[in-house]
Amino acid sequence: MKDIVKFLTTVLYYVEKKNYPLAVAFKRAYLHNKPRKIESNLLYEYSKRMLLSYYALPQSKRSFKVRYWLENKESIEIKFPNWMEEKLSTLLDINALKRKLSERWMWARVNILKTDIDKIYRELESQNIEFEADKNFYYMIKIKKSPVRLSSLSIVKDCKLVIHDKASSLVVEALKPEIGEKLVDLSSAPGIKASLYMMLTENRAETFLADVDFKRLSREYNLLKRCGVDLRKIHIIYQDSTKNSVIKSDKILLDAPCSSSGMINNDPSILLKLSDNEKIKKFAKLQKSLLNESLKIRANKLVYAVCSLFPEEGERVIEDYYDIAEMPFSNYQSGYSLYKVGKRSNRTFPHIDSTEGFFISVLNLTKL
Ligand SMILES: C[S@@+](CC[C@H](N)C(=O)[O-])C[C@H]1O[C@@H](n2cnc3c(N)ncnc32)[C@H](O)[C@@H]1O
Repeated sequence: MKDIVKFLTTVLYYVEKKNYPLAVAFKRAYLHNKPRKIESNLLYEYSKRMLLSYYALPQSKRSFKVRYWLENKESIEIKFPNWMEEKLSTLLDINALKRKLSERWMWARVNILKTDIDKIYRELESQNIEFEADKNFYYMIKIKKSPVRLSSLSIVKDCKLVIHDKASSLVVEALKPEIGEKLVDLSSAPGIKASLYMMLTENRAETFLADVDFKRLSREYNLLKRCGVDLRKIHIIYQDSTKNSVIKSDKILLDAPCSSSGMINNDPSILLKLSDNEKIKKFAKLQKSLLNESLKIRANKLVYAVCSLFPEEGERVIEDYYDIAEMPFSNYQSGYSLYKVGKRSNRTFPHIDSTEGFFISVLNLTKL
């Protein structure tokens, strides 16, 4: 018990004080304070659930918060900051969302640039991993239970199986990737969607991949290389995309920087950064500025996406473009009905789709 308290207190320290995402906080804590007699999967689950209940913990020192959580872990509620509870209650079934957050699931993509589906299925079976093939996208797999950490598998290290949410695939599929075309991705790092786009075009498209963060761009380059992407088809652009340098393309992807509130199922440390709604206002301003700038590019189609549950980052950003907005998928929820443009966009939710919460809309630029 003492070991576990020490471990969880260290995780909380890294999240509260260093702003690390859960996965990084966990890894660091595990390196220095690995508790004996408890399996790492369960320890990760504890860390995740403690963060999901962070706003229900007493205002006290960290070790006390941890003890309180451990003593009450069967009954303690999942709680968001008050402003977020109020806002989300008017938009979605917040209790259903919270119930889903306590479940564990994961998505992964078979990278057919490097392997084939049967080989991956056989490998997962040999590791006693419970999974099911996705019914929408032949290359996506839902991992239901795994006795091993997926990141330790050689197929993951070799990028034959890429761990990413199904909602990211929806964003790329909304582009309707086609061989021979050009794509500019204005906020592209760390390159998950760019690598899927290249996979779907069999390495036969050309991509212009921009980002403002140099370190993230180099991670992107390495990921693309490890994923078997043809690097001759890739142009890395280090830029602030509110002052974009690309003039022309066939398609544009704006997977904009956002609050990441749609990702709390994977990383509940995000909740700690959402103690008030100032961040949302800041992101909404940046998203509008990125969108206005991207509309200066001569292209046929733009996909706007954010991993956010808040309309300020989704519907409100594209509402001025209602006339050219199109709903990408008829088999997914539409955007929030409080907004006119809601019916010309999609939203995915953890409790409905078992995915991250994304907002996705297509702007048909030929109608501009
Ligand atoms: C949601 S992430 C993109 C994820 C990426 N599309 C993928 O699938 O891996 C948002 C990215 O926007 C970048 N970003 C933030 N502000 C930017 C700006 N002004 N110009 C360009 N990129 C920006 C961040 O560095 C971050 O990498």
